[in-house]
Amino acid sequence: MEIKKVGVVGCGTMGSGIVQLCAQSGYQVVVSEINDQFLNKGLASIDKVLTRIVDKGKISQADKDATLGRIKGTTNAGDFGDCDLVVEAAIENVDLKKKIIGELDGICRPDTILATNTSVLSVIDMAVVTKRMDKVVGLHFFNPVPVMKLLEIVRTIATSDETIAASVEFGKSLGKTTVIAQDKPGFIVNRLWIAYVLHAVGLLEEGYASKEDIDSAITMGLNYPMGPLTVGDFTGLDILLFTADALYAELKDPRYIAPTLLRKMVTAGWLGRKTGKGFYEYK
Ligand SMILES: NC(=O)c1ccc[n+]([C@@H]2O[C@H](COP(=O)([O-])OP(=O)(O)OC[C@H]3O[C@@H](n4cnc5c(N)ncnc54)[C@H](O)[C@@H]3O)[C@@H](O)[C@H]2O)c1
Repeated sequence: MEIKKVGVVGCGTMGSGIVQLCAQSGYQVVVSEINDQFLNKGLASIDKVLTRIVDKGKISQADKDATLGRIKGTTNAGDFGDCDLVVEAAIENVDLKKKIIGELDGICRPDTILATNTSVLSVIDMAVVTKRMDKVVGLHFFNPVPVMKLLEIVRTIATSDETIAASVEFGKSLGKTTVIAQDKPGFIVNRLWIAYVLHAVGLLEEGYASKEDIDSAITMGLNYPMGPLTVGDFTGLDILLFTADALYAELKDPRYIAPTLLRKMVTAGWLGRKTGKGFYEYK
């Protein structure tokens, strides 16, 4: 099936990035939010990002205007009725995601693909609430969506080959490298990455090395762009902890037990860059 019109549920960090990238790639996009205030905030953030890239000379003002012209904001889920693909990017809560996917199943055409941008939740749990389990897939984008090159496509035991093929084509059309992951906790990236970052926090907690030395060892020794503690701060320590707990709850693998230090930092509200303090301090 050719995808021409894309729906996005949620215009927060990820939703706004998905909307921007799809519209820049030539798709007609409908994006929904819970109310006008959130919708206007999300649309304004897209406008701001596009203005910045016009100012940098990467796109023209006409490109920006054409991109914005392809985006329609709404607070009415009924507007997804003629979309070929809808990507759910609401908050990471399985009950909410099931409710959204179930509603979309009632609103969208029978051939519409329904996707979730979940980082860690089970995709089949969302697919079972629909009458189109074969057309439900995980499309896991990374933050910032227009910049990060990877799209993890999550295949449940019920996702059809046709849905996977359409998802791969869609990812390519957005300029992404796609990988196919099984519908198991953490998919590929978080399955590996969470264990690695938790290990670094554990080493810091036990006084094995200083935070600076842990980060320098990895950036200088392995040529990674950021050390694990810096990247934890960048991601948000609350998100890191939530994901670790979700992986441990499902897998019971001790590699995903969050160090006490991480838990206490989250309790203290030291969530990384977004609160000005995490492993490091930010102005
Ligand atoms: N932030 C990341 O780095 C990242 C990376 C990959 C995947 N994800 C996943 O993407 C999803 C979104 O994360 P985020 O960081 O953008 O969250 P966010 O809180 O920034 O945005 C979520 C938005 O969804 C809206 N929303 C909630 N219920 C809705 C509904 N019924 N209809 C329409 N909008 C609704 C909220 O108002 C909010 O604006 C989550 O599942 C998250 O796990 C996040």
